[in-house]
Amino acid sequence: MPQRPPGGNILKFDNVGLRYGLGPEVLRDVSFRVATGSFHFLTGPSGAGKSTLLRLMYLGLKPTRGRVMVFDRDVATTARYELPALRRRIGVVFQDFRLLDHLTALDNVALPLRVRGLREAEIRRHVPELLSWVGLADQLDARPSTLSGGQKQRVAIARAVIGRPDLLLADEPTGNVDDQIAMRLMRLFEELNKLGTTILVATHNEGLVSRFPHNPRLHVERGQVVRVT
Ligand SMILES: Nc1ncnc2c1ncn2[C@@H]1O[C@H](COP(=O)(O)OP(=O)(O)OP(=O)(O)O)[C@@H](O)[C@H]1O
Ligand SMILES: [Mg+2]
Repeated sequence: MPQRPPGGNILKFDNVGLRYGLGPEVLRDVSFRVATGSFHFLTGPSGAGKSTLLRLMYLGLKPTRGRVMVFDRDVATTARYELPALRRRIGVVFQDFRLLDHLTALDNVALPLRVRGLREAEIRRHVPELLSWVGLADQLDARPSTLSGGQKQRVAIARAVIGRPDLLLADEPTGNVDDQIAMRLMRLFEELNKLGTTILVATHNEGLVSRFPHNPRLHVERGQVVRVT
């Protein structure tokens, strides 16, 4: 279950710079805070660095300079053996889904629960319910290769939220679905947020963002991150 400490910041970036290999700095002097329990949008044009920022947040990359704190832990000095336990507290919806092709939709979504050792009876109860909620009741036994882009995206979202993570990082999670499903998925995120999960949704869909004017927003452009209020 998510623990919601009173106040505090689940993410802290201080003067972060990031370059891939010997390339140019993709992020420069990035500093911001994300309050525990908040629901942020992460906006910015294609190629601005949204996915790169999320990679830093889910401990998939270390900053080239500066400091990234996740759950009050400095990712640069966290020992490798400690990373899996931290990552299990984070649900990620990857821009390219990253489903396991040899598993059914149901088994893909069940994976985080099985890793935690949840009883099979519980899994058989929760997973179909969630997949039905995202409109995939008829696809429980389908393999990813037989699903459309929007269907795969919904399986990826179900997998990311099923374990009620402390932090949900969703990379363009409604990029492949129609408006009606997008709003349903946003409602799912809002419910999860009410239960205590801190949420970041990266998107370049301005239409979606404008429908949630009260959500705080971080905007990435030319390697910099600014808070838009
Ligand atoms: N693995 C990588 N190796 C080298 N350069 C990369 C890598 N991943 C991203 N980049 C570069 O970093 C910059 C930011 O990319 P990123 O994927 O973070 O952008 P984005 O905001 O997520 O874009 P989009 O909206 O298209 O998903 C781009 O210039 C991209 O070319
Ligand atoms: Mg991206």
